[in-house]
Amino acid sequence: MHIPSRRSDRSRRSRGAVRGAPAVVLAAVLFTAGGVAVPQVAAASDGQAGAASEPAGELAEGLTGVLADATITLGGADYPNPLRLQDGMAVDGPESWEYVRREELLADFREHVYGQSLPFPAEQTFDVSTSDTGDVVRKTVTIGVTGPEGSGSFDLRLFVPQTDGQPRGTFLMIDHRGSVGDDPGRSSSYAPVSTITDAGYAFAVIDANDLAPDDSGSYRDGVIDLFHPSGQDLPDDAGRAISAWAWGASRAMDYLETDPDIDPSTVGVIGHSRSGKASLWAGAQDTRFAAVITNNSGSTGAKLARRGDGGVGAETVARINSSFPHWFPQTYREYNDNESALPVDQHELMALVAPRRLVVGSATDDANADPEGEFLAYVGAARAYELYGLGDTGLSSAAWRPETDRAFRGPAMSYHLRSGGHGLTGADWDHYLEGDLFSRGTGATGL
Ligand code: GCU
Repeated sequence: MHIPSRRSDRSRRSRGAVRGAPAVVLAAVLFTAGGVAVPQVAAASDGQAGAASEPAGELAEGLTGVLADATITLGGADYPNPLRLQDGMAVDGPESWEYVRREELLADFREHVYGQSLPFPAEQTFDVSTSDTGDVVRKTVTIGVTGPEGSGSFDLRLFVPQTDGQPRGTFLMIDHRGSVGDDPGRSSSYAPVSTITDAGYAFAVIDANDLAPDDSGSYRDGVIDLFHPSGQDLPDDAGRAISAWAWGASRAMDYLETDPDIDPSTVGVIGHSRSGKASLWAGAQDTRFAAVITNNSGSTGAKLARRGDGGVGAETVARINSSFPHWFPQTYREYNDNESALPVDQHELMALVAPRRLVVGSATDDANADPEGEFLAYVGAARAYELYGLGDTGLSSAAWRPETDRAFRGPAMSYHLRSGGHGLTGADWDHYLEGDLFSRGTGATGL
């Protein structure tokens, strides 16, 4: 079956955002977002937007508004305040979060950390082949994408349990190991397909290497060079492999939205380690994902960048850029051994998942990923959830270190610290499958 896709980009774009507005003016304005006029308080730029440590500007006499602290404290150290608008004003609720602060943060993460994402393809097609293996319907969907420089494709594999009604949810995995075959019986602890389908969930997987080979010499050969002339250097701020993997998860979601066997409001994007960085970036940008699961994602994933090596020899910005030069844009290198200059930190990336379910899995012995740094970022992300009355992290204490091998679950945030080393294991999957991740339903907030 060949299905031409229709564009389905539900992300809202703020227009007339506060950056660049005249100084010391605070005004209630109307601007359109997704075709709907939204009342919005826009505050002025003091002309120095972007630096986390700058003092908040002064308000004009007679105007009301709340100035935000530049920093919050996590684990005794200062980090950028996710709820501080670039002009120094405080985010005062879900609207200013979703229409203003979210856009500011996404722009900063694109410019400084992950690079600009590829655009929506000029043309996208889905070729679906289906086979019934008894308890599970298996589909292979070849997703064709066309950019200005050519056309290419990558496969989505989908395993749907035959249950009464739709599956309990769908786990969409970004897999950099190429370890999921066509046989749902071929399970591993990393991708336990039959365990997932037996639990009533659908499992979908894309191979990261089809999107951007995980190799510094050939990473452009997947989808990136469909959008960039292959003979030219990429722009300094263009996304590289991790960005392309995240983009692929959104294209897979484009298909899942069309599949009658799938409820698109209960799709979670999951990745482990380098793919956990990509799942977090995908879920931060694309609000169609109802749950975002990042497992042992460490540096430039769940770990706070400003912690450096975390005192445990964890991977720093400098080290990741040198070991994996094809993962992030050139612009990220400006922060090698200079993390405090970053306009953002990773708790703010997690905050971008709010109010959808954020799921962080860490492991005690995964020093390279700095489990304490992952934990503190999770705690810091709760600031955004508080705007929705969902700030309960489920943790018994915001202080490191939490009980191991226990699932902590708040109304929209989930965390566990598994004992053992780096990996996506059966114990991690138990938490994800038993974690009731989709109980709050859709990623849409109704705003
Ligand atoms: C390396 C790298 C990590 C990455 C990991 C993985 O250890 O330093 O950043 O998460 O590989 O993907 O397994």
